[in-house]
Amino acid sequence: MEIFIQPLQRTLTVAVGVNLLEALRANDVPVSYSCMSGRCGTCRCKVIGGQVVDSEDPYVLACQTFLTEACIVQIPEPDEVVVHTAKIIKTTLVAIDNQTHDIKSIRLKPAKPIEFSSGQYAQLQFTPAHIRPYSMAGLCTDEVLEFHVRLVPEGRVTGYIANTLKVGDTVRVSGPLGSSYLRRKHQGPMLCVAGGTGLAPILSIIRGVIAEGMKNDIHLYFGVRSERDIYGQEWLAELQRQHPQLHVHIVVTSGQAPGCRTGLVTDAIAKDWASLDGFRAYLCGAPPMVEATTLLVRQMGVLSEQIYADAFYASGT
Ligand SMILES: Cc1cc2nc3c(=O)[nH]c(=O)nc-3n(C[C@H](O)[C@H](O)[C@H](O)COP(=O)(O)OP(=O)(O)OC[C@H]3O[C@@H](n4cnc5c(N)ncnc54)[C@H](O)[C@@H]3O)c2cc1C
Ligand code: FES
Repeated sequence: MEIFIQPLQRTLTVAVGVNLLEALRANDVPVSYSCMSGRCGTCRCKVIGGQVVDSEDPYVLACQTFLTEACIVQIPEPDEVVVHTAKIIKTTLVAIDNQTHDIKSIRLKPAKPIEFSSGQYAQLQFTPAHIRPYSMAGLCTDEVLEFHVRLVPEGRVTGYIANTLKVGDTVRVSGPLGSSYLRRKHQGPMLCVAGGTGLAPILSIIRGVIAEGMKNDIHLYFGVRSERDIYGQEWLAELQRQHPQLHVHIVVTSGQAPGCRTGLVTDAIAKDWASLDGFRAYLCGAPPMVEATTLLVRQMGVLSEQIYADAFYASGT
């Protein structure tokens, strides 16, 4: 049975029933993957032609897909492949600090290095009953991993972080996961939109731009509810010193704050730009903000496949 790979224009001959990710890897097709278990979305491909699964949706997770018929598979961005095999690493909590009235930063020292791309996240296991995904704020070359956690009222895991977690505790980090990582080959402008602790992966992305020596213009819109929810201004000022092409807009939903704009990030973006043609967009934080901004930037000219959205959905377990 044959599968045709776009945009590489290659034909692979594979056995009926083969796993798509295994077939791609066995034939040295550049494809990103991480968890190999359908959780992270990194291996998402589009299947054009041929019946692969029973669903109407052409997008599949290669690691979960078994091929039964000849088909055409479109792999995303073969020049931006990221392969960090997901691992479980033991870390020790070395610091827990208040950033705002309800945001804590936690710093974890890993027992061995963990590889990840800027913008990815990991599952943090504080105890077997307290596990949640959180996004890395730094780079994988840093000695400690930094995360920002907003305490959710009645939240099970954030309640544990606020009340029980202490310096010296062991935290298992499993990852990396996620496909909204920095695209290093892109040279055009970047739109970064962070809502609340969505700033963590966006900081990682901006730090990645600087570490890679990229020169892109970056327009960051950081949306918060009110003045007391703003954090990270010193980090942002330092990043602006290192990368003068970084433009920061802090947008406060209600009330006024010095040097900040008032309203929704979507309104601020729509006001500032007539078109976002040629931009890549990184959108991180609360799901309603990410969904509204995805719609807006698509209407303003960003290609769907160049919108990298990381919505902080509640886990529900
Ligand atoms: C890919 C990914 C990355 C994430 N990265 C981060 C991160 O870097 N920083 C961060 O703070 N969070 C992040 N989150 C969210 C985080 O994983 C938890 O969902 C959040 O911390 C709440 O956990 P909890 O156990 O305290 O709340 P739960 O006990 O699960 O929920 C309690 C109540 O709060 C609601 N709720 C849960 N989460 C939220 C929320 N975010 N906003 C509003 N209401 C909520 C629930 O619907 C429920 O009613 C991420 C989520 C995903 C999927
Ligand atoms: S590698 Fe396929 S979903 Fe994670």
